[in-house]
Amino acid sequence: MREKRKVILDCDPGHDDAISIILAASSDQIQIEGITTVAGNVDVEKTTLNALKVCDFIGLDVPVARGAEQPLVKTREFAPDIHGDSGLDGPELPEVPKKMMIDQHAVDFIIERLLDSDGEITLVPTGPLTNIALAIEKEPAIVGKIREIVLMGGGTFGNWTPTAEFNIYVDAEAANVVFNSGVPVTMFGLDVTHQAITTPAILQEISSIGTNVSKFVGDLLEFFTKTYKEVFDFEGAPIHDACTVAYLIDESIFEFETVRVDIETKGEFTYGTTCVDRLHVTGRKPNVKFAHGINQEKFWGLLIKALK
Ligand code: RIB
Ligand code: CA
Repeated sequence: MREKRKVILDCDPGHDDAISIILAASSDQIQIEGITTVAGNVDVEKTTLNALKVCDFIGLDVPVARGAEQPLVKTREFAPDIHGDSGLDGPELPEVPKKMMIDQHAVDFIIERLLDSDGEITLVPTGPLTNIALAIEKEPAIVGKIREIVLMGGGTFGNWTPTAEFNIYVDAEAANVVFNSGVPVTMFGLDVTHQAITTPAILQEISSIGTNVSKFVGDLLEFFTKTYKEVFDFEGAPIHDACTVAYLIDESIFEFETVRVDIETKGEFTYGTTCVDRLHVTGRKPNVKFAHGINQEKFWGLLIKALK
């Protein structure tokens, strides 16, 4: 049996963040050290409440620490059109979760866990990178304790501007710190997450499982599919964030290239763009393991198995 991979999930739940948490909690290969939240899809009060509600629902007893309320430099932008006003619209959940967040800030939680850990920890950010950047800047010594940063964000095209993806766009300065930190970055951008789109057959299979959790995920996906149809005219919902955890469980699901990625923080039209140098034209040292392919059958099989 492989040693469990210790992870901290940094997220902005968020429908796909919630599914990513459920997938991580279902795996005996992953040890969740904690969940940290950040402002992203909705404000950090709501993303924290949503993280606590997901933990309550699946009986996940790990520390939840609230993080950054706003980006390092830019003003906040939210995505209620995609995730609803609560950030987790769709499923019926108790107004007030039983679980309480810890009284330590997410950035301090990340720093403390990394410095105290007797092994390395993998950071899995699936929202804006504000907490990760703040932790690295506040305590650079953590860089040597981070095994890998496995993130959902960026891509060779955008979904918030023509060239920028939401997570990176919300805090490009933070992304710049992370991508230049020297820590190995494994990036799941839109190039691959837009290949992980639900179909009616998949929704049918999930709802036929008949467990409480599968019903919860089915309700999440029903709402998420509706908003992706309204906003992007998609026939299904891309489960962006779950690609990160699926990789941790079975990396053979994905195909990668090692490339240079730089973050645009100045452009009038291109702020938040991940400049992915797939043809190595810059000659700059590669810093990212870039996911570009996915075995859909394996991916959905993993999610369905986890729900069962
Ligand atoms: O662009 C998709 C990303 O933005 C996902 O992480 C989604 O949850 C939102 O945070
Ligand atoms: Ca997210």
